[in-house]
Amino acid sequence: MPLVDMHDMLNHAYRNHYAVGGFDLVSLDFLEAILAAAENCRAPVILSLVESHFDHYDFELAMAATEKAARRATVPVAIHYDHGATLDSAVRAINHGCNGVMVDASHESFPANVAHTRRVVEMAHACGVAVEGELGYVAGVEGEDAAKHPGEVEYTSVEEAKAFVQRTGVDCLAVSIGTVHGRLRGRPKLDIERLKRINEAVKIPLVIHGGTGLSDEQFHKLITSGVAKINYYTALADAAGERIRTNARADARCGYTGLVHGIQDAIRAEVERCLHLWGSAGRAAEVLVQCRAWQSVEHVIVYNVEGASDAQVEAMMARGRETLSRIPGVRRVFTGWAVQNSQKFRCCWLVQFAHEKVIESYRDHPDHTAFANQLFRPIAGDRISIDFAEVVRPLETMAANGRQRIHA
Ligand code: 13P
Repeated sequence: MPLVDMHDMLNHAYRNHYAVGGFDLVSLDFLEAILAAAENCRAPVILSLVESHFDHYDFELAMAATEKAARRATVPVAIHYDHGATLDSAVRAINHGCNGVMVDASHESFPANVAHTRRVVEMAHACGVAVEGELGYVAGVEGEDAAKHPGEVEYTSVEEAKAFVQRTGVDCLAVSIGTVHGRLRGRPKLDIERLKRINEAVKIPLVIHGGTGLSDEQFHKLITSGVAKINYYTALADAAGERIRTNARADARCGYTGLVHGIQDAIRAEVERCLHLWGSAGRAAEVLVQCRAWQSVEHVIVYNVEGASDAQVEAMMARGRETLSRIPGVRRVFTGWAVQNSQKFRCCWLVQFAHEKVIESYRDHPDHTAFANQLFRPIAGDRISIDFAEVVRPLETMAANGRQRIHA
């Protein structure tokens, strides 16, 4: 179960002066290693999927594995969509199971960034999902040499940060204060004074992108100045790459499993180092007790039809599956006939909502009301509709038992 509301998770870190790691994953090895590290350290963790990596793996398949792994974890987990470009990609992320989304409109003008981010916040908050906005520009590309993509770092302005947070309603803010994405030569110079002033002005959790290559002291200063989430990828990719090169040197003819042997250990060791350094190690139990669980809702309708043939009903069901599954916050739409003809109701809908908040936003969504009024209600007179919340194991029990797995 331990999927946890990301807004609550980040606010816990912000109030208690530590940072949660947002680790980008690109394969099952990364997923398993990040969660093993979090469980070994009893740390809350954010599993992050970056839009720019979708050339390397299938987002929908990766999400299925990520959600499954998060649900069976024994530490609190959030699933975050990193660097999303459009409103549509944020909807897709939520409908596939992310409970945090980032809007990356930092390359747009200030008013355009505000308008774009505001639209994503309205949609996502109606689904109970937390939103990260970005202001200023963090140069570089995750996983590559920073020198190859120097770009122009554009520092976040304190005044703009304040106005941005007020106008957009974001839950956390990614700021540019000197870090860059990717592999560095030397250490970047960070503008900690600017970070402190932004923190004073906005008073919400701040996010640092480009965590790779910072010193222990720099991390400490970031966290004491309001940073509650650190995005981290290149160092994990490099640790995995180094292990593959070592394996290849040891046996020039080894196949795939020989090449990737031990990469989970290499990634896990680096994640564990970060979790201790950033203060999230040992916080899992508190987060489980103090933060809301992330729970889905099943919207169930059983009904009988009047004055329509089975073929007409099936056409209506097909339209419903297509239309309703595109509404923000809808995870799955099932339509079916009762298996036994003797049942009181012959047909059903099962619509899974990402979160309780979707009950309202779905009901009022124009695509839903048009479908319901024009196609469904005219033929489905006799019906019962109930929303069921997923039963989750009480968080207190979970935290107290602390069902522990140690990953060696
Ligand atoms: P690094 O790859 O530099 O660690 O940055 C990761 C990141 O910021 C992802 O959003």
